[in-house]
Amino acid sequence: MIILGIETSCDETAAAVLDVMSSRIKVLSNVVLSQVKIHKKYGGIVPEVAARAHVEQINFIIEQSLKKAKIKPNKINYISVVSGPGLITSLMVGVEAAKTLSLVWQKPLLAVNHLEAHVASNFLNNKNKIKFPVLCLVVSGGHTQLVLIKKIGNYQVIGETLDDAAGEAFDKVAKILDLGYPGGPIISKLAHKGKVNAFDLPRPMLNKPNFSFSFSGLKTAVLYTVKKPTHLVKKKVNKDFVRNKKFVYDMCASFQKAVTDVLIGKTVRAAQKYKVKTVMLAGGVSANKKLREDLKKTVKKELPNVNLNYPDLKYTTDNAAMVAMVGYWKAKKKDFTDISEIKVDPNWEI
Ligand code: KG4
Ligand code: ZN
Repeated sequence: MIILGIETSCDETAAAVLDVMSSRIKVLSNVVLSQVKIHKKYGGIVPEVAARAHVEQINFIIEQSLKKAKIKPNKINYISVVSGPGLITSLMVGVEAAKTLSLVWQKPLLAVNHLEAHVASNFLNNKNKIKFPVLCLVVSGGHTQLVLIKKIGNYQVIGETLDDAAGEAFDKVAKILDLGYPGGPIISKLAHKGKVNAFDLPRPMLNKPNFSFSFSGLKTAVLYTVKKPTHLVKKKVNKDFVRNKKFVYDMCASFQKAVTDVLIGKTVRAAQKYKVKTVMLAGGVSANKKLREDLKKTVKKELPNVNLNYPDLKYTTDNAAMVAMVGYWKAKKKDFTDISEIKVDPNWEI
């Protein structure tokens, strides 16, 4: 079965072609055009600018995905597209393009949830068979959720963030430290050079018995430390704090450790409570090396019988291969929606 996936929910214009035969999954192409360079100068994503850039690039990106996969449109069996959640104007571009192709090529169209697609990124490699029930920590720029998965298509959100998402916290802290956008990759790179216990940062909600998260207080703690160092900082630093390299490295390391401690603590506790067989990571923040390494150590120690699965790095941030994967699941179940019924839903929950 050949599935074309299309993704425009945020600031990546992406198209991919997937070839699935029984349990053999082959990503024939995975084309992602990031708008990071465009949004960098604004310090974050500007929705109108994102939508315009999608309009300019979508046809070319789809063409490239077919070309790289060496697939002609008549060989495609299904088209799948993310219709939510995400930025409404960005989503509209992908959905309208997909609807047009579906009509012109006469191929069924499947509407895909962006968060389910992140979960599906774990299924793109054929390395190991995933055992259910699964607990997936979805950590992206827009979401932080613990999702209990009894089987594919059966999702229960058992906890989520009450304010900022983990990726959003990385982005905002990078902005405070004047490091540029997006914050996650920069902070994780600089954190290697710093000390994880240089600053006493809070671990919000870690000891609460529920599975909710909150990262806005942590971000504010970073801001206060930058602005009023004597208040929280253990040792003296130069006046020009954000330009003091050691201060920045230590802050990156301490902040990253605070976020990963909370994410890992809650995930392990939820995995124990729901007696899952597999723990998974998904979303842009799942690219974080520290999160992967520390989670691996903790799972080995606290959950020795639980398998751990990560998506390949190229499938952690937004891409369309993961969208085509959900398209395959839906096609197999004949879970079709009439094209006239497919609408963009910026708040669609998994
Ligand atoms: O999943 P994604 O591409 O888009 C959304 O669906 O939101 O995630 C983007 C987020 C950004 O906030 C970015 O800073 C974060 O993922 N991110 C990281 C890393 N790479 C990307 N956060 C921490 N460490 C990383 N290595
Ligand atoms: Zn995403």
